[in-house]
Amino acid sequence: MDKRPPGWPLLVALINGRSGIPDARLVEAVRDKVVLVTGSSYGIGEATARRLAAAGAIVLLVARTAEQLDVVASGIKASGGRAFSYPTNLAEPAAIERLVADILRDHGRVDVLVSNAGKSIRRSIADSYQRFHDIERTNAVNYLGPAKLVLELLPSMRERGAGHIVNVSTAGVRTPPMARWSAYLASKSAFDVWLRCISQELRHDGVTTSTVYMGLVHTRMSEPTPLLNSLPGLTPEQAADQVCRAVAERPHNITPPLVRPADALGNLLRVPTDRLFEQYFRRGNTRKRTQ
Ligand SMILES: NC(=O)c1ccc[n+]([C@@H]2O[C@H](COP(=O)([O-])OP(=O)(O)OC[C@H]3O[C@@H](n4cnc5c(N)ncnc54)[C@H](OP(=O)(O)O)[C@@H]3O)[C@@H](O)[C@H]2O)c1
Repeated sequence: MDKRPPGWPLLVALINGRSGIPDARLVEAVRDKVVLVTGSSYGIGEATARRLAAAGAIVLLVARTAEQLDVVASGIKASGGRAFSYPTNLAEPAAIERLVADILRDHGRVDVLVSNAGKSIRRSIADSYQRFHDIERTNAVNYLGPAKLVLELLPSMRERGAGHIVNVSTAGVRTPPMARWSAYLASKSAFDVWLRCISQELRHDGVTTSTVYMGLVHTRMSEPTPLLNSLPGLTPEQAADQVCRAVAERPHNITPPLVRPADALGNLLRVPTDRLFEQYFRRGNTRKRTQ
């Protein structure tokens, strides 16, 4: 039985946004388009791939877990859709070069890249002294891999004068920095800024970018953090709805309603907001020590 209080869906929408796209509009936008979705073995990427394929897109599935990609592809095909698996570790630049060569050979083009694969880590700096690899791994999947993939795809997109890149980012890069999320948020911020910079160079060649500053979504990624499980969050399908709107309508960004003022206030009041988060972190730590 659902034990959540009345008004919970409204709270979820207010905090995380619910800007979706009707089926008919999505079909019009993506039918017969070649759409590459990274991180499509699970979570938001899987739900996005399923929705795009149902709307008539030719979906290219990329992630490491080949068996899971095949499960997703089989499900799509069983429903009459088109999907192709390309198992790839996006932390390996050479594997990305092979991936793009294979895709261009097989399909001739990529109309839309949904850069969704990601790795999250929540760990205090005191627990990270021996874990430089946390920074390396988050950067490899959240920044360097996506940047390499864009670099490989851009020549063919620019040559055709058409292409769209959707970055599944996090609302966390728009709100004040938070203790324990340093490795994750720094790597997500890096790709966000990189893409915004190059976007200014691409528009005139017909290549556009959209960034979805996603709120909390209940997936495999958020599941290990007990605090997040109790907070209002989207389902993967609701999150996919936002990603699909970005694919179809090509907005500059999609941002949850409450994140815009938080972003503005955080920039205006940098010192007080940092102090506020500092207090929150210290209180949490003290409570942990006395338990
Ligand atoms: N969940 C949230 O609350 C939330 C909030 C804001 C933003 N986001 C962002 O949304 C995106 C999707 O997250 P999610 O919640 O759906 O997480 P998820 O269920 O853990 O899915 C992550 C996906 O990324 C793939 N992936 C991870 N490392 C990879 C690698 N080295 N090479 C290729 N693929 C890799 C995973 O597949 P394999 O393991 O098979 O490789 C999986 O398909 C991420 O970019 C995340 O930062 C999530």
